[in-house]
Amino acid sequence: MRIVSGIQPTGSLHLGNYLGAIRNWVRMQDEAVASGGQCFFFLADLHAISQPHVPAELAASTREMVAALVACGVDPARSVLFNQAQVPAHAELQWLLNGTARMGWLNRMTQWKDKAGKNREGQSVALFTYPVLQAADVLLYQASHVPVGEDQKQHLELARDIAQKFNNDFCPADAPLFTLPEPIIPPEAARIMSLRDGSAKMSKSDPSDMSRINLTDDADAIMQKVKKAKTDPEPLPEAVAGLAARPEAANLVGIYAAMQGSTPQAVLEAFAGKGFGQFKPALGELLVESLAPINARFVDLRADRAALDAILADGAARAREAAAPTLTKAYAALGLVR
Ligand code: TRP
Repeated sequence: MRIVSGIQPTGSLHLGNYLGAIRNWVRMQDEAVASGGQCFFFLADLHAISQPHVPAELAASTREMVAALVACGVDPARSVLFNQAQVPAHAELQWLLNGTARMGWLNRMTQWKDKAGKNREGQSVALFTYPVLQAADVLLYQASHVPVGEDQKQHLELARDIAQKFNNDFCPADAPLFTLPEPIIPPEAARIMSLRDGSAKMSKSDPSDMSRINLTDDADAIMQKVKKAKTDPEPLPEAVAGLAARPEAANLVGIYAAMQGSTPQAVLEAFAGKGFGQFKPALGELLVESLAPINARFVDLRADRAALDAILADGAARAREAAAPTLTKAYAALGLVR
């Protein structure tokens, strides 16, 4: 198993990021290491410049994200943890793959359509070719498995199409260069919603800080946010079906289940008939207990810029070494003399 995945360095991580991507990475890391596999996890800082950004904030977010990942359990000794910008092979392979990717394929990407909206002409070229860089990210390391959210499935299919076409066009039939990567989409696909609105995703861009639990929140802040979370006056039902028209209740039960590693049904079996006056303190305590150690490590590490830069430098050196053979073969396959 060769696992490769990336995350954009957005800064300020919250519970949704943790229960969505990051905890899944940690789980995969532990499984991969146990079975002799290897994980490459990176900050997609090159992807971050595809949309308007503030350079000083990108640098700060990149370091902050490393601190968060390590605090959550990504272990730089067992996984290769780095940022793309320190591994030029990503940008190089993207250029080589630009010769294989088709305009029509990229035009069909729903993320491109959503982000560009009605203003395609005004977008950066980088936003359009974003999925080709993403393909380079995984093909460079011969990824066998790529953990991603549901919204990235189409980009992974594109990476497979690019790999397949490159192998067909430029490699002998018995010696394809690129491994076709399989997406791994976590089954629970923990969709964590805002604490103020059960129909909106928990997001760092929500103007209300009460809508999310940040990895920087201390125990008091967590408790307060959970107690003030929007709910309804009904007690908790006996079965998941009873949550259907109650998005806020469903979200809190979902968070409890995700934190505990159980299911919403199991949570309801424990709390059926109880009101939020009882459920919220229990949820708050569970969150505090699980997040306190992460929070403590994060706050310490975030302040240690030298340590963060050392982690990234070490990861990048290992990533460059792992990437070199595939990149060399890709140049050669295309007839490029170097
Ligand atoms: N596009 C991904 C996202 O927004 C991040 C990403 C970049 C990625 N490169 C990747 C994910 C390679 C998996 C593999 O979530």
